[in-house]
Amino acid sequence: MPLSVPTLPEGIDPAWLPPDAFRPLGERRTSIRGSGPFVETVHGEVAEACEQFGGEVVRGAGTGTSHDLVLCQGDDDLGDEGFTYERADGTTTVTASGRRGLLYGLFHVVRLGEKAFRGACPREAHRPAVALRMLDHWDNVAVHPVMGQVERGYAGGSLFWRDGRSRGEWQRVRAYGRLLAACGINAVSVNNVNVHETEAHLLTDRIGEVAGIAGVLRPYGIRTHLSVTFAAPVVLGGLPTADPLDEAVRAWWAEAAARVYAAIPDFGGFVVKADSEGQPGPFTYGRSHADGANMLAAALAPHGGTVHWRAFVYDHHQDWRDRTTDRARAAYDHFAPLDGEFADNAVLQVKHGPMDFQVREPVSPVLGAMPRTRLAVEVQATQEYTGQQRHVCWLGPMWSEVLRFRPEGEGGVAVGESARGGLVAVSNVGDDPFWTGHPLAQANLYTFGRLAWQPVADPHRILDEWIALSFPSAPQRLATGLRTLLHGSWRTYEKYTAPLGVGFMVQPGHHYGPSVDGYEYSPWGTYHFADRDGVGVDRSAATGTGYAAQYAKPWAEVYESPATCPDELLLFFHHVPYGHVLHSGKTVIQHIYDTHFEGVAEAEEARRVWAGLAGLVDPARHARGAERYEEQLRSAREWRDQINSYFFRKSGVPDERGRLIH
Ligand code: GCU
Repeated sequence: MPLSVPTLPEGIDPAWLPPDAFRPLGERRTSIRGSGPFVETVHGEVAEACEQFGGEVVRGAGTGTSHDLVLCQGDDDLGDEGFTYERADGTTTVTASGRRGLLYGLFHVVRLGEKAFRGACPREAHRPAVALRMLDHWDNVAVHPVMGQVERGYAGGSLFWRDGRSRGEWQRVRAYGRLLAACGINAVSVNNVNVHETEAHLLTDRIGEVAGIAGVLRPYGIRTHLSVTFAAPVVLGGLPTADPLDEAVRAWWAEAAARVYAAIPDFGGFVVKADSEGQPGPFTYGRSHADGANMLAAALAPHGGTVHWRAFVYDHHQDWRDRTTDRARAAYDHFAPLDGEFADNAVLQVKHGPMDFQVREPVSPVLGAMPRTRLAVEVQATQEYTGQQRHVCWLGPMWSEVLRFRPEGEGGVAVGESARGGLVAVSNVGDDPFWTGHPLAQANLYTFGRLAWQPVADPHRILDEWIALSFPSAPQRLATGLRTLLHGSWRTYEKYTAPLGVGFMVQPGHHYGPSVDGYEYSPWGTYHFADRDGVGVDRSAATGTGYAAQYAKPWAEVYESPATCPDELLLFFHHVPYGHVLHSGKTVIQHIYDTHFEGVAEAEEARRVWAGLAGLVDPARHARGAERYEEQLRSAREWRDQINSYFFRKSGVPDERGRLIH
């Protein structure tokens, strides 16, 4: 039986799957050959498109008539998700090599639109470079008193949970799974990495609710994962300890995993935040993180599951007076010595930068330091530090820089290509009618999925794809406008916020808006050390914290000296006087003033461009965007004025161009 396409609830934005995107497919004659659940999903999609646009779909070879499109299962060796694509003699043929390949092949045809049915195309092989392409939802089941329903969520409530229980709004969840499949995502974790008491029970007595979600996402090729608390044997099992080497603890986890698999046979595995920001972990028992991860890996192994162990471990009770402790060093210091000790089904999930999803950070040195460990790179689609989905900040170029980074320099392997553990994004989706708060933030989610499929793809090409899919009949002027708005938006955001890689300077707690010294005298390890003479963190090996030496050459040398350090990371690696001259030829202080004025001017221009697109964009989408651009501009001005005033007052150096600084 073909699986019906989910009905989008009234008022919910279709994102990158509007009905019109299926027109070229829906007007054609398609033959579907093969069997199995994913074939039924594909059949349902094609049948729905044909019903809308007058085409025809048959199962099997059909009788006599030729087909415009053949979707079939073959026996190529492209793995479970790969497919081949070719067009010859007026027929387009997609041949899946594994079970899920047909799903991705179908969406490939949808992306190509009319191009899929014109001319000829020699056989192409498609397969994802990275096997695990995952979204982590930081969704709480119960509303958390401080963090709300979704921690760092800027798109309303959770799609899965509301007020302590599963929402059970399956059409919406199915529509979500479909969107994810269409951009290549194949795994989801359904609850926050900070596992509070209510959420802890999802592992045991409430696994049925997780199974409900898994069942709805399964037809779209998505495996469901769960964040669990390391203390589960104590808080759920009543054991006196959660020591990973204790036999009773190990047995408890083995049983817990077996019960999970009884409920969800294709369960993906556990996500674990341990010994981090107050979460329990193996340190309590004098055990290593490899001991902790391997215990969970052992429990999951008989069932084919994986443990995603996060490397976000640092001292969040640091004394700001102590200049020798450097939070940036922490992940490497904790984990690099453990290289080779993790089980085969344990993945170490590493934030892309050493700090915390700032607008500019170097690539984490951990990603080059553990060749014998399966590493997953974690990025943040939810824009905690990049405008909270009120500002437009398309992160494609940033992620692309990370994924293309070669820890060993030219000739070495790019981070994205060596991600044997996978690529993970913290989700930016909620129950908002536009899914992501700002409608343009949908581009981040789409780009993440596509980059995870092909980490070295050109993000601008992906953006064009997103535009073409989301606005299928867009006149050229709209496509150009959207490109203008999104292309440079990350750099614009960088310009009006914390300068030259120094990071933070945000309001403590919620992290929105400027507060230059907000974290300066706090225990969180996020300092800029500005004084009357200069600013920045000395992380050199010669005179600073030694962080720069965590890299292999050439980066250890490049970052060690202000003479070779790239401008955009200068204050991350060095403390320099305000008069220090950048490679750009400007002094640091003048760079700060100039970029902050430019950033606001660019935000003003973006608001103007968006206003000019009224009439070309659906009115509800346009209105939401317009409201957000107002706020972006207000906030950008606030950033500019606070940062410029702060540094003018500290340094006493006037702006060369005499602009207004308060
Ligand atoms: C950041 C974020 C937290 C989150 C943490 C994590 O610190 O502010 O809300 O829990 O990252 O990644 O675990």
